[in-house]
Amino acid sequence: MLNLGQEHNGQGLPDSATEVGGLENLEIEIREMRPEDLDGVLWVEQSSFRTPWTRTMFEDEFKNPDMAHYLIARCKEHVVGYMGFWKITKEAHITNLAVHPAFRRHKIGERLLFAAMRLARRLGMERATLEVRASNEAAQKLYEKYGFQLVALRKKYYNDNNEDAWIMWMNNIKAFENIRPE
Ligand SMILES: CC(C)(COP(=O)(O)OP(=O)(O)OC[C@H]1O[C@@H](n2cnc3c(N)ncnc32)[C@H](O)[C@@H]1OP(=O)(O)O)[C@@H](O)C(=O)NCCC(=O)NCCS
Repeated sequence: MLNLGQEHNGQGLPDSATEVGGLENLEIEIREMRPEDLDGVLWVEQSSFRTPWTRTMFEDEFKNPDMAHYLIARCKEHVVGYMGFWKITKEAHITNLAVHPAFRRHKIGERLLFAAMRLARRLGMERATLEVRASNEAAQKLYEKYGFQLVALRKKYYNDNNEDAWIMWMNNIKAFENIRPE
């Protein structure tokens, strides 16, 4: 049973998968993030990261619309995942990707990645890069599945636990035009 917990029900989220018809029946919409999505985005963020971004950090991203691009995944009006990247010349620098734990392993991360890379392509970007914790096998596998490669390590990059970062690059995001999420 999917249990989304009480702490979030201020957003009116369902308590169980049964309420949304079971995870196999989830209808997911991907669209650009708006300021009114932030309660839901923060719920995903706080359930996903040891040092979550604050509301102010997300609000600051909205102040740079030419550079900062954010998408959300929605299920029945509720935010269940999000992804962002910065446009830096022809490079998409992925800032974050998260799916709420109750909704993981249902290809939502994959769909966010596809939508973000297609948006980046439309905006004229050619390559994409990101940093990911050395211990974060789930994210590494997702990126590797779609052609991102480990190119370097940034030693002790994360100062909460001195963990190394993997620096990954994907040199041809045009490829996302020709592949489809499963
Ligand atoms: C990484 C994350 C976004 C993946 O989201 P998700 O919706 O569960 O992923 P998907 O269902 O789309 O999985 C797609 C692929 O990713 C890989 N993957 C995802 N979760 C995985 C796991 N727990 N273990 C191994 N591989 C995994 C697999 O290759 C999977 O393909 P498959 O289903 O054919 O095996 C999610 O685990 C998350 O939010 N983690 C916490 C936040 C985080 O670490 N973000 C990344 C910051 S760089």
